[in-house]
Amino acid sequence: MSERVTISSPSTLALAGGSPVRSSFLPFHQPLVDADDERAVLETLRSGWLTTGPRTKAFEKELAAYTGAAHCVGVNSCTAALHLALEAVGVGPGDEVITSPITFASTANVIVHRGAQPVFVDVAPDTFNIDAAAIERAVTPRTKALIPVDFAGHPCDLDAIMSIGARHGIPVIEDAAHAIGAQYKGRPIGGIADMTCFSFYATKNITSGEGGALTTNRQEWADRISVMALHGISRDAWKRYGTEGYKHWDIIAPGYKYNMFDIQASLVRSQMNKMDAFHKRRVALKQRLDTGLSDCSEIALPSERADVVHAYHLYPILVRPERLSADRDTIMNAIQAENIGIGIHFRAVHLHPFYADTFGFRRGMFPVAEAYSDQTISLPLYPRMTDQDADDTVAAVRKVLAHYRR
Ligand SMILES: Cc1ncc(COP(=O)(O)O)c(C=O)c1O
Repeated sequence: MSERVTISSPSTLALAGGSPVRSSFLPFHQPLVDADDERAVLETLRSGWLTTGPRTKAFEKELAAYTGAAHCVGVNSCTAALHLALEAVGVGPGDEVITSPITFASTANVIVHRGAQPVFVDVAPDTFNIDAAAIERAVTPRTKALIPVDFAGHPCDLDAIMSIGARHGIPVIEDAAHAIGAQYKGRPIGGIADMTCFSFYATKNITSGEGGALTTNRQEWADRISVMALHGISRDAWKRYGTEGYKHWDIIAPGYKYNMFDIQASLVRSQMNKMDAFHKRRVALKQRLDTGLSDCSEIALPSERADVVHAYHLYPILVRPERLSADRDTIMNAIQAENIGIGIHFRAVHLHPFYADTFGFRRGMFPVAEAYSDQTISLPLYPRMTDQDADDTVAAVRKVLAHYRR
């Protein structure tokens, strides 16, 4: 008797009308906010002081201590931190800033906001972090800053990048949006580069909904950034309506409205208390995904170097086109149809219309980044996930790969 495959066979893709691996959708990300976080925010709401004030200042001290940096400035996003960092080092029209094409829009956009030229270079084929040798080749007399990105939470090659920066007198502004809690050669991210920018956006390893921070050892940059984050008005302007009574303030430069405020600060401080527990859970889930997918030759799993503590912000797999009869987008849609949320981090920035049209970037310029950009799918990885959620993710990926296997 021949076996009859019916529409309800567990191997029929949900995309083709079969039953999905899960009956309910697993979101790509959900923040973990608990009763302590709620209490911290409520206390601030009841305190009589909502905007930038004592809680923001306390957070800045705590993050500086955690990262080992001398100074920290809380801001309202990592984008703001990156923008202010470029302003502080004097990047302007005619300057070039080198960064990675495998990053979020804002890493490149802030270079354009300063009127400077983004210079992309290719990434390394194991971590997909910016390739230090490619940076070296791209440096010109007009290079005013380097912005390496700790992609997915894996610290970039900081020794090599810092040494290029030092040799040419170019500041290194690390985009550590993914990398709070990560370490490079035993040192926390945030205390190594000239400036480090963090994100506390809703999907990040710790969150304040929206938020960011910048750490540095240089007092003059920290001072400039504090001023420029709050309209360019004189330092400690947040005290101007405080208990010490009204004081005049001066505009010393046309700054921005980028300040962190105390509601945000109270949430992110409370989240910081759970950073180690969150990281432990990310490690366990990452290992569960690794174990469940390690024999799938149709995909490559994320790899990491021996000298880092990875923040495991993302879990990007790469589909191998030579082993599959479908492209990345088809695989991605099929996994989502199984009720598993996915993300794409990132389609290479230089191929986006604005960057290609404005600066003449073309496919073929950065082959490692482009292949990555075409093949990557991020699977869910966050502390709120249960073991079952991770197992469902594995089951969905395996089901889809089995269907499209060549
Ligand atoms: C690599 C990278 N840099 C910068 C940012 C910007 O962070 P924010 O949303 O806090 O401005 C993000 C946000 O997703 C990011 O992924």
